[in-house]
Amino acid sequence: MTLIRPLRIGTFTAKNNLLLAPMAGITDSPFRILCLKGGAGIVCAEMVSAHALHYGNPKSGRMLHVNPREHPVSMQIFGSDEQTIAQAAKNAQDQGADIIDLNAGCPVKKINKAGAGCVLMKDEAKLGRLLEAAVKAVTIPVTLKTRIALNHQQLLAVRLAKLAESAGASAITLHARVASDVHSGPPNIAAVAEACAAVKIPVIGNGGIVNGTVAKQFLQAGCAGVMIGRGAIGNPFIFQDIIAEIGGQTPAPITPQKRLEIYLALIQENISYYGEKIGINRSRKTAGYWINHFPNAAEVRGAFVRLDKLADIERLFRSVRF
Ligand SMILES: Cc1cc2nc3c(=O)[nH]c(=O)nc-3n(C[C@H](O)[C@H](O)[C@H](O)COP(=O)(O)O)c2cc1C
Repeated sequence: MTLIRPLRIGTFTAKNNLLLAPMAGITDSPFRILCLKGGAGIVCAEMVSAHALHYGNPKSGRMLHVNPREHPVSMQIFGSDEQTIAQAAKNAQDQGADIIDLNAGCPVKKINKAGAGCVLMKDEAKLGRLLEAAVKAVTIPVTLKTRIALNHQQLLAVRLAKLAESAGASAITLHARVASDVHSGPPNIAAVAEACAAVKIPVIGNGGIVNGTVAKQFLQAGCAGVMIGRGAIGNPFIFQDIIAEIGGQTPAPITPQKRLEIYLALIQENISYYGEKIGINRSRKTAGYWINHFPNAAEVRGAFVRLDKLADIERLFRSVRF
């Protein structure tokens, strides 16, 4: 069977099985659109608090907006209460999401203190209830994103995959690292493979996928799809590169010049979406991923983060000598 293939998640079928991971502060609408152009089969939005939506937080409300250019999109929600999760899922569906994803993998303390994110792995009954509440609230597929375990002592991948399946989730994404490792260390692909063998729903593998070689390892281990996070920042065309690599071709590495060109286009999109001040502020967060791999990159980055006008940024980028 070919490794790159359409991905069926419940009633929904994506053109391919490469997904952009949800990343808070990064996978907003402009970046999602860019990754779809770069070949992603599904793009996932930054996590949105069900609690904040319930209390009418305008910023959270805006995060659910779906641009017609960004389908298929999975909207990720987090929370710890069945009613607000159900409400948030319904709200996201009404705004045009194709898939609803529940977060049970985030290790951020503030979120865990509120009973959401990875701490849900400790309370499987509650996690099951939250998933069921979301599934009942919408007609589109609901998925779960979690990790293989909380710590290295006890792997939970198989249990969580079975739980997701019996709660009615249409797929599960497993970040192949334990919560205590946050985002570092090699992915434990064997742990994900065990989950793939244990359930019928698609298992999407995630963690450390930066090229076709790693993506292939997850897909050969039984994953129905793979999800790419940081590998897409600074290279939103990684999806098409992975497709090419798995197809036996050697994609040309992205040049620093091309990277800067794409970054400028993203900054322009961010400005159209958020306005100049916030658009540039948001763009700055990922400067290190984009302005690099040329001799005076650090100097250019230093100059860039002090600029707050698009015209000045364009002038700076035009002056770069690779
Ligand atoms: C800056 C940042 C923000 C993230 N935000 C989220 C999030 O909102 N929801 C989520 O489920 N995971 C989030 N993650 C985790 C990623 O989705 C992904 O699981 C992780 O980065 C591992 O994949 P990678 O090795 O390809 O980056 C975030 C990761 C990073 C680096």
